[in-house]
Amino acid sequence: MSARPDTLVVGATGFIGRWLLAELLRRGRTVAAGMRGGPARERELRDWLRAHDAPVDRLSAVHVDITRPGLDLDDTAAHHLESIRDVHNCASLFRFGLTRREARAANVDGARHTVTWAAGLAGLRRVVHLTGYRAAAQPTDPAGIAQLYRDHGAYEASKTEADAAVRALAEREGLPLSVVNPSTVIGDSITGEAGQYIGLAETVRNLWAGRLPLLPGDAATFVPVVTVDHLARFLTEVPERDTGGVRAHWVLDETTPNLPELVDHLATHLGVRAPRRFMPVGVLRRLPRAVTRAEPETLPFLTADRYDTASAHALARAAGLTHPPVRDALARWADRLVADGFGALPPGRPGGLHPVAGSRTYLAGERSAPDHVLLHGLPLDGESWHAVADRLDGSALVPDLPGLGRSAPARVPVDVWLAELLAPVVGRPVLVGHSAGCAPALRHAHAHPDRVGALVLVAPAFLQPDASPALRLKPLVRAVLSRMTAERLAAFTGLGEDTADDRAVVSAALNLRRPGAAARAAEWLAAARRPAERAALRALLATCPVPVTLVVGEHDPVGTSGLDVRVVTVPGAGHYPQLVAPDMVAERIARAAAAAGAAV
Ligand SMILES: NC(=O)c1ccc[n+]([C@@H]2O[C@H](COP(=O)([O-])OP(=O)(O)OC[C@H]3O[C@@H](n4cnc5c(N)ncnc54)[C@H](OP(=O)(O)O)[C@@H]3O)[C@@H](O)[C@H]2O)c1
Repeated sequence: MSARPDTLVVGATGFIGRWLLAELLRRGRTVAAGMRGGPARERELRDWLRAHDAPVDRLSAVHVDITRPGLDLDDTAAHHLESIRDVHNCASLFRFGLTRREARAANVDGARHTVTWAAGLAGLRRVVHLTGYRAAAQPTDPAGIAQLYRDHGAYEASKTEADAAVRALAEREGLPLSVVNPSTVIGDSITGEAGQYIGLAETVRNLWAGRLPLLPGDAATFVPVVTVDHLARFLTEVPERDTGGVRAHWVLDETTPNLPELVDHLATHLGVRAPRRFMPVGVLRRLPRAVTRAEPETLPFLTADRYDTASAHALARAAGLTHPPVRDALARWADRLVADGFGALPPGRPGGLHPVAGSRTYLAGERSAPDHVLLHGLPLDGESWHAVADRLDGSALVPDLPGLGRSAPARVPVDVWLAELLAPVVGRPVLVGHSAGCAPALRHAHAHPDRVGALVLVAPAFLQPDASPALRLKPLVRAVLSRMTAERLAAFTGLGEDTADDRAVVSAALNLRRPGAAARAAEWLAAARRPAERAALRALLATCPVPVTLVVGEHDPVGTSGLDVRVVTVPGAGHYPQLVAPDMVAERIARAAAAAGAAV
């Protein structure tokens, strides 16, 4: 094992644990990560830390199981940890619906075991234990705790029981202990990244999915938040600054808007409708969960209570820490939740929502000077370009078209929306469209030839024979699309059912279920089939003022005869060559970009 560590983070693979680990390592500390899982888990953690600019040369990992006395350390690990001065316990089972037995094993016994083990360290400076802003405010007598298990569920009750247990232990042993009580922890204040999708994140998910018709609680309901990067900075300071026996800090941003205002802020940011009426907590408790969609264990969090943050403020002030602006942090967190598909999407390039021509538009990639602009086709969204974008040398701007994917509808035609999106762009990017996305790309190249380096049209819908009159039956198409699954999309696009975990199809299937999304996609498809539209686009193609490359799948019936443009056929592909042959499509885009660069 590496250099002797001074700090142990137990629960280092968790949400808070890994941000704390990163902060400690960035500050040059020598840290041991107490974690479960084998080498693969450790590799994943190290990769994550590197990706978050944390050096890993002063990191070691030890296996711990907090449910076992002595944390289940083997002799080598126990010896390695003899130099530890600070112990942070970020391990617990943070889930709703736990049984009392599982919750107590990890959260109560686990907390006791950690503190007891730490008490045996010769050079211990401080133990930092995480409780939670609600659990730490509950009655801790045995009757009160028993009542909590009945009324509030096993998570909060076990955290309350643990809080009382570790305080009692520390007082008995004269142990320096700081209990930190964070409120709802949201994502990093800059990137929004969290990787945790419970509690308030569930409310955001329901809001995004159009499943939050009523506001839980009332006008005074206060669900405070704290960003994970602020919390990590705060935690690293605690052992440096707290002295004496047992201390406690409530860490939350008091400027968090009350829940109705918070929801309204996020609804505006995400471009969705905010609920206006309230559903009081008493009513929520009585209605079945299938109706309320509210996790019963989150209901005790819906109160107007305020918390004594004086000690946390004093510590933060002494350390020069301030909460990042909360509204921006909330918006970035919501963006990232959406970009992650609330945990359903495999990793990719996260984007966010921005105003474009009155539409809250989902944009990923480079916004001001992209080398490429990639417009998706249907029934997909911007994620359908992920494999191609990964293979392109230059930068790419990848929007979801208005009203499709994650973008809200625009009140203006798509051409106006595209012109506004690209107005601030410097340089002459290569404009790439797929299927129905080829139409706005082609019209934009005509309208702004001086701002487009080249045009690449992948499987243009307007060149397909009009062999699918069914696509004009909007109610039928809408019904099919609204029931679309990633498996069906994977098969339909030619990816193959065994790739139903691909980011492109998982994202498309998720987004087609958003309110109105399938209807809008059906509308686009029907419009793309109109003969006049198709004829007009064909004429525009014949007179396009910028160099055009057509990329078509071998099995896609695209009519290219009589066209005086470069046509590249992708062997084995159908209508979605960018999904099944991203290498070849990226290479063709790169060639078009190179030719455009040479022509400038
Ligand atoms: N997140 C919040 O909003 C929030 C708010 C207030 C308080 N808290 C408290 O903050 C602490 C950290 O929360 P979190 O959000 O980071 O939770 P989390 O993401 O669920 O992480 C929990 C960590 O505990 C580890 N763990 C669970 N059982 C273990 C065991 N038997 N032995 C060793 N490790 C074990 C997990 O390991 P695996 O990865 O192997 O499962 C994981 O690393 C918890 O005490 C939680 O109650 C959290």
